Amino acid sequence: MKIIVKDNYEDLSVFAASIVADLVKRKPNCVIGFATGSTPIGMYHELARLHKEEGLDFSQVTSFNLDEYLGISIDLEKPYEMDQSYARFMYEELFSRINIKQENINVPYGLAENPDQFCRQYEEKIKSLGGIDMQILGIGGDGHWGFNEPGSSFDSRTRVEKLNSKTIDDNYEAFYKKAGVSKEEMPRYALTMGIGTILETKSALMLVNGEKKADIIQKALEGPLSTEVTASAIQIYKGDATVILDKAAASKLKNI
Ligand code: PGA
Repeated sequence: MKIIVKDNYEDLSVFAASIVADLVKRKPNCVIGFATGSTPIGMYHELARLHKEEGLDFSQVTSFNLDEYLGISIDLEKPYEMDQSYARFMYEELFSRINIKQENINVPYGLAENPDQFCRQYEEKIKSLGGIDMQILGIGGDGHWGFNEPGSSFDSRTRVEKLNSKTIDDNYEAFYKKAGVSKEEMPRYALTMGIGTILETKSALMLVNGEKKADIIQKALEGPLSTEVTASAIQIYKGDATVILDKAAASKLKNI
């Protein structure tokens, strides 16, 4: 595992985007696993800039998102209403800014009639395309990867997961509050790739930003491997793992 510390969020974002861009240039038909949350937004905007100004070509790229809230999905007819889906987030922050083909985009479908069946098919589709070449990851305030809340086993697969109160509080502050949605109206469940699914990806790019993540990333990287901090699974990741932190997020690490 490589651990890279950048001075600030902008440097982290530009550097992370350069790693994704290298993959897209090296393997134009690569499969990328995207993540949502505030952290990757800077990287997504930099990828959009590379597309616009330097012609970075996503036309053959396939994407799979990590997770989605259960019960909501993008409504392209009225995208600015109360829809806080991760599908909408991805369209706004990345997909509408690059030339990825609609048919190559996969985001767990929050309105699936049979979510369990949908999750099984999602896994099958990832496998049928040869697996994920690079998975973008963050870390939640409770140590989650995707929406794998504390207690999720390391061999968990794509499934429905109940969100815990820390995640609901964090995502309320980061997204729902601004959209005028009350905490009570927020979804309580999500579809998420499992830790086992993530561990099968070929490379991982984990982004961690800000002082508020300093304690939890220290636990994930240097603490015991534990399902209480599901992102600690990075310690047993067999592919090529790169963790990029800004200085504030790295401030509690002992072994830099
Ligand atoms: P954040 O979320 O980037 O908004 O901090 C990360 C996560 O919950 O995995």
